[in-house]
Amino acid sequence: MNFIAKLRTVRRIGARKTLHIQCARWGIHTPWGDDPHGPLARRELGLRYIRGRGIEIGAAASPLSVSRKVKVAYVDRYSQTEFTEYVHSALFDGYDRKSVLAQAVRIDIADDGETLATIGDETQDFVIANHVLEHTQDPLGTLQNWFRVLKPGGVLFMAVPEKRLTFDAPRPVTPLSHLIDDHENGVARSRRQHFEEFSALVRGVSPAELEAFVEQSMTEDESIHFHVWTQVEILEMLLYLRRTVAFDIELCGAMANEFTTIARKL
Ligand SMILES: C[S@@+](CC[C@H](N)C(=O)[O-])C[C@H]1O[C@@H](n2cnc3c(N)ncnc32)[C@H](O)[C@@H]1O
Repeated sequence: MNFIAKLRTVRRIGARKTLHIQCARWGIHTPWGDDPHGPLARRELGLRYIRGRGIEIGAAASPLSVSRKVKVAYVDRYSQTEFTEYVHSALFDGYDRKSVLAQAVRIDIADDGETLATIGDETQDFVIANHVLEHTQDPLGTLQNWFRVLKPGGVLFMAVPEKRLTFDAPRPVTPLSHLIDDHENGVARSRRQHFEEFSALVRGVSPAELEAFVEQSMTEDESIHFHVWTQVEILEMLLYLRRTVAFDIELCGAMANEFTTIARKL
């Protein structure tokens, strides 16, 4: 390696280390997990794969880094006002509300990311959805809609938590058969079961308090992790979807506590 190449490498590693330290110092990504490797890996991939105009669903306080030329419209189930109320709710007790609100993106489109009813077919160059699919009740239908709004050649950029490395660790993996059932027969039948599992195994609610707790969470339409996966089941789900939706998987892999997929619509 010549001197200039060495200098560039040292600078690159230096910049990377500084970014890691800054990520931790600024609390980037801390609202939902503070491993700086996750956002760093996303950042590199975002700069590389995201082009044109598109949407990011559920960016909240951790939007994907993209080139300045890229135009992103931010979609969330909450309007701007509702998001602020959400951050002030008891669900954010223990989090630094001020820094979440300071880092959160402006919400351009309040819409259900599962259906994207306000977004036309084949209108987007990209759809970004990091740590959102596990919040959806019908992940197969959701993925179909994400591909529906993509133009041919458009990119889906999606990071999904790897359940073994998150608070979902005690929960059983959601089998593909369950996702197919939710998609084909409706989500109402399994809704309560998800709230019960999440409340008991993640929140640690006692059996005596479970029913009242679940009732309240459901009434408040709390955005829990409905389904949980390890990397293999995420791939299994994508391969199943591939039977009806034409796309290539250009990249997939485990990074920090998440499994990232970059797929291109054919
Ligand atoms: C856990 S946060 C993810 C934040 C960020 N993308 C990240 O990677 O850390 C989930 C975000 O998705 C949004 N969300 C959850 N379900 C949604 C839905 N059905 N439609 C649109 N947004 C949704 C939430 O409001 C929140 O902003």
